[in-house]
Amino acid sequence: MALQHLNIHRVRNIQSASLTGFGRLNVFFGENGSGKTSVLEAIHLLGMARSFRGTSARTLISHGLADCVVQGTVARSGSGRTTLGVQRALSGELSLRVQGAPAKAVSELVEHLPLQVINADSFALLTGSPPARRQYLNWGVFHVEHRFFPEWQRFQRCIKQRNSGLRRDKLADRELSVWTRELADSGQRLNDFRQDYFADLAPRFRALMERLLPQLGDVELRLRQGWDKRLSYVEALAATLHSDREKGFTQVGPQRADLKVTIEGRAAEDVLSRGQQKLVICGLKLAQGQLMQEKMGRQCCYLVDDLPSELDARHCLRVCEELDQLGAQVFITCVEAADLADQWSEPAEVAMFHVEHGQVTALVQHEQV
Ligand SMILES: Nc1ncnc2c1ncn2[C@@H]1O[C@H](COP(=O)(O)OP(=O)(O)OP(=O)(O)O)[C@@H](O)[C@H]1O
Ligand SMILES: [Mg+2]
Repeated sequence: MALQHLNIHRVRNIQSASLTGFGRLNVFFGENGSGKTSVLEAIHLLGMARSFRGTSARTLISHGLADCVVQGTVARSGSGRTTLGVQRALSGELSLRVQGAPAKAVSELVEHLPLQVINADSFALLTGSPPARRQYLNWGVFHVEHRFFPEWQRFQRCIKQRNSGLRRDKLADRELSVWTRELADSGQRLNDFRQDYFADLAPRFRALMERLLPQLGDVELRLRQGWDKRLSYVEALAATLHSDREKGFTQVGPQRADLKVTIEGRAAEDVLSRGQQKLVICGLKLAQGQLMQEKMGRQCCYLVDDLPSELDARHCLRVCEELDQLGAQVFITCVEAADLADQWSEPAEVAMFHVEHGQVTALVQHEQV
């Protein structure tokens, strides 16, 4: 799976750009404020229908204009191509197209262009709050287990209903017990999917960390499922029913799950330097790409913003080597071309683009990926 062609209209400082000639490894370089992150934002918009930073279209649309549009062509791994299009307007309107036909759900785009992002916001995986880590976990499970997404939707429905039942008076007891049973069943399944995924993810992450930061010692990834692991979910819900009633919401469950990285037993966010944190984040993201490749025979596309910042040349090279070995398509930015020009095993697979004042110029271009 590879992005072959990208049209960008009115995304941040890029008024109009038509980019072709992508390789497997695509380096965008240019001065601060030239538009490198904006190119990655445009690809993110194409795959996720939103910015890295959140759901609002305001930050994506060029100042003073009403909408932005991205269109792209993705080559499928067997044969054939998929065209994707996303238009977002300040008014809130969102229009998605797959093969020229309107698409209803963002999940349809995600299927065609699964993205992994490594940028400044990724530090939230270590230093942010649990939702960032749950999102990371869900991304991984979603892409290797097709039953996960419908189950996740069912769980959201059940917990909403149960919480609304909990906030009502005793008359709602029967209804509450129905929703509790549904929730217990759905939550247990979600957790099983996550646990299976995690069992595959954790050793890959450890192996990556041994290569990226061998001097670090014992790095461990742990999954907290969101309730006492000695109990089934139905038991945990029964144990907290009284207090859930008092508080008016469901206190335990997959909605409280979290991931924790420890170094020699200490929380990574407490002991690691900024550069080391970045390498751990790269390890987490690379492990997901490996797993998707191994389980599904599919690659995701990596958007890596400003890899050299915070990393010394040796560690930057290690991350590049891992990205390279993964075989995924990579869109990566840096300020100086030399920072990322020679890190790759196959120069023929590298395309270089210079970005200046919102204009993107291909320097080394490929006929076809
Ligand atoms: N909505 C917007 N409309 C127009 N311009 C914008 C908008 N949002 C940001 N910009 C401007 O677009 C320019 C490019 O921003 P971008 O973040 O892509 O730069 P960059 O090349 O990644 O820079 P850096 O090296 O500092 O990360 C900046 O000057 C920024 O102020
Ligand atoms: Mg940038």
